[in-house]
Amino acid sequence: MITFLFSLFTWIAFLVLLIVFFLLLLWMWSSIKAKVPFIGVPTKTLKDIEKALNINEDSVVYDLGCGDGRVLFYLYKNNPKAKYIGIENSQFPLLVFNVRNWFFKRKNKSNISIIGKDFFDVNLSDATHIFTYLYPNVMDDLLAKFDKELKRGTRLVSASFHFTTKREVEVLDLKRGKWELAREIYVYEF
Ligand SMILES: C[S@@+](CC[C@H](N)C(=O)[O-])C[C@H]1O[C@@H](n2cnc3c(N)ncnc32)[C@H](O)[C@@H]1O
Repeated sequence: MITFLFSLFTWIAFLVLLIVFFLLLLWMWSSIKAKVPFIGVPTKTLKDIEKALNINEDSVVYDLGCGDGRVLFYLYKNNPKAKYIGIENSQFPLLVFNVRNWFFKRKNKSNISIIGKDFFDVNLSDATHIFTYLYPNVMDDLLAKFDKELKRGTRLVSASFHFTTKREVEVLDLKRGKWELAREIYVYEF
């Protein structure tokens, strides 16, 4: 019996290690491939992002490069009727998002979905609100697409990074420490 339990335990430990190793490889591959790595926005910033977005039940909210989906899952809580779409092109965050969404949908009739593509290839004309936590050069590359596709009044909230050539309607200083991420939020209207 003890021998059986020992070999069962060894197999389980081996399987867990294998899964951890696979996830680590996936994460490393995703980070190497991505122009912007997967770094989730700090959770304490979520309420500030929600306030800055100012969504309502008719909103169509996109998170460009949604990572594990933390922003969309958070927003859903106070506005369950809005539509939430994440776009993500890296395998590791995509996997985490999908697992999370599967569990989330067992409890909530949520309207959260993910598009596993490059956000430059997705038409954003139905967006009313957009969230980004990317890099300055990517923001600038996206500006032409936003100017072309977004309908009038679309609100964009960016954590940390701003456009170099477009004026914000608001900049929120979150009064964070020097070493903290996402210390400012930039709000734009198109
Ligand atoms: C800094 S993380 C932000 C994650 C999430 N928005 C958050 O705030 O927690 C940026 C994410 O954008 C994704 N990404 C970068 N470039 C992308 C692209 N062209 N298309 C889709 N996703 C992209 C990366 O894979 C990464 O997960």
